[in-house]
Amino acid sequence: MLSDLFENNARWAARRNAEEPGYFSRLASQQAPEFFWIGCSDSRVPANVVAGLDPGEVFVHRNVANVVHSTDMNLLSALEFAVDVLKVREIVVCGHHGCGGVRAATEGLPQGLTDHWLEPIRRLARQFAIDLAKTATPDERLDRLAEFNVVESVRRVAETPILQRAWGRGQAVAVHGLIYGLRDGRLRNLDCSVGTRRPVRET
Ligand code: CO
Repeated sequence: MLSDLFENNARWAARRNAEEPGYFSRLASQQAPEFFWIGCSDSRVPANVVAGLDPGEVFVHRNVANVVHSTDMNLLSALEFAVDVLKVREIVVCGHHGCGGVRAATEGLPQGLTDHWLEPIRRLARQFAIDLAKTATPDERLDRLAEFNVVESVRRVAETPILQRAWGRGQAVAVHGLIYGLRDGRLRNLDCSVGTRRPVRET
């Protein structure tokens, strides 16, 4: 219920302020995140939580199946702000195993607008059909496809004029591809980083 949200929020704000007096007034004056996160809307993959980051530490854009469309004004506006104004150092595209959007992209049923949104993943499924056929199970096939989608999305972000201009003026910013495992809660680096900074390390 909605009232639960307000109660949760009041408790959280009180606890946070008790742990660190002045926390909110300090955060209200500015944000200076190191990370820009492009992830799936899936409720099980909240950027701050799975990456262990506090408010103020990651600028976030999420959509169904973390697709990067080169004409998506929502994503491009957030990306431009993150790179040009916030000057983030690391851009993370994070997909996840067990992604319902990736699954929908492999099903023939007409889903309406979603069919258009997921078209890049359908294209990847055709492009990598031979590799995907080598997987042991249908679920594993979808998980590989989710990983291909991340790698492709990293490439698309890197090819935007926003990143090309940033690198052209010598700005230190890199784009990384990660995959999140729903079953173990772990992030894995897909080693497809592009940019001027060292790749993020797994622990
Ligand atoms: Co998903």
